[in-house]
Amino acid sequence: MRILGIETSADDTGIALVDAEGNFGSAFECTILANERISQSGHEAYGGIYPNLAKEEHKKNLPIAFEKVMQGNAKPDAIAVTVGPGLEPCLWTGINFAQTLAAKWKKPVVAVNHMEGHIIMSMMEIVSPSLGQCAKFEFPALALLISGGHTELILMKDPPAGGGHYEYIGRTRDDAVGEAFDKVARLLELGYPGGPEISRLAKEAREKNIVADFELPRPMLHEDNFDFSFAGLKTAVRRIVENPQAGGKPNDEIKLQIAREFEDAVADVLVAKTMRAVDECGVNTVVLGGGVSANAHIRTLLNSKLSSINCKLLVCPPEFSTDNALMIALAGYFHALKKEFADPVSLSAKGNLKLA
Ligand code: KG4
Ligand code: ZN
Repeated sequence: MRILGIETSADDTGIALVDAEGNFGSAFECTILANERISQSGHEAYGGIYPNLAKEEHKKNLPIAFEKVMQGNAKPDAIAVTVGPGLEPCLWTGINFAQTLAAKWKKPVVAVNHMEGHIIMSMMEIVSPSLGQCAKFEFPALALLISGGHTELILMKDPPAGGGHYEYIGRTRDDAVGEAFDKVARLLELGYPGGPEISRLAKEAREKNIVADFELPRPMLHEDNFDFSFAGLKTAVRRIVENPQAGGKPNDEIKLQIAREFEDAVADVLVAKTMRAVDECGVNTVVLGGGVSANAHIRTLLNSKLSSINCKLLVCPPEFSTDNALMIALAGYFHALKKEFADPVSLSAKGNLKLA
């Protein structure tokens, strides 16, 4: 089956085309025919995504990405489009694009949940630049989703796609972890998105053996639940940055110290809570997904803790961790296999769409 995936939930415009066959656990294979992503600029000044700017950029970028993807390729059997969660003005641009194609090609449409896309992407093994297979593992499995808008621990009782198999067991009570990275980066006068910037400085600090002479909190680390909180961490960083003794402006040394200590604090909390959930839920696989899962330190720490208890970590190559349309095409495929199609005319954007 050939699937076209469309992703416009935030500030990346993505279109991908895949040929896929098989099902979870039974000889799944996909050929990645094309995977275009156009990342937007211009949001730096706002320190976050400015929805109306993002919407206009998607409208401009979608036809450009589409033309590249379809070059030399026959039309797909179905179209998969992200309908939520995300910024509604942005989601609508992708939905309208999918509706136009569906009418023109007379092909069915699958409505995809963006977070399920992240989960399915991490379940894949990218064997070569154009070939993907499905990792071998058993259910139940635990998903840790960390992105710009989400921080969630989800128990998956059965393979994704097919409905009703997700159970939220923990979530952030305030900022998402990616949001915390972005806000701290802004306090440190770094670029947007902040995650890769902080991560780069933290790596440099580790290489130079620079250790902070202060300690940041590990919010909710010892609380007996699977919830998270990251707003206090950002406030703690602000206090250090705005300390008049430091001149009210972070110098390069302080930036390195903060980046490393912040990344350590975030990783400590994410990993500790995930390990507790693994133990309590009795799973032997963790699926790590979402843009923040591109973070090398979080991956390494989680992987070493999980391997010490013989638990498997599934995570995709970092370039597929952040938003892309390949993950939407793949999620769309598994729904299309089950003939779970949407009526293209009644599709609508759902900013707060949940998995369960
Ligand atoms: O999944 P994603 O691309 O978009 C959303 O669905 O939100 O995630 C974007 C988030 C941003 O907050 C960005 O700063 C963060 O992922 N991010 C990272 C890294 N790369 C991207 N955070 C930490 N370390 C990274 N290497
Ligand atoms: Zn995402």
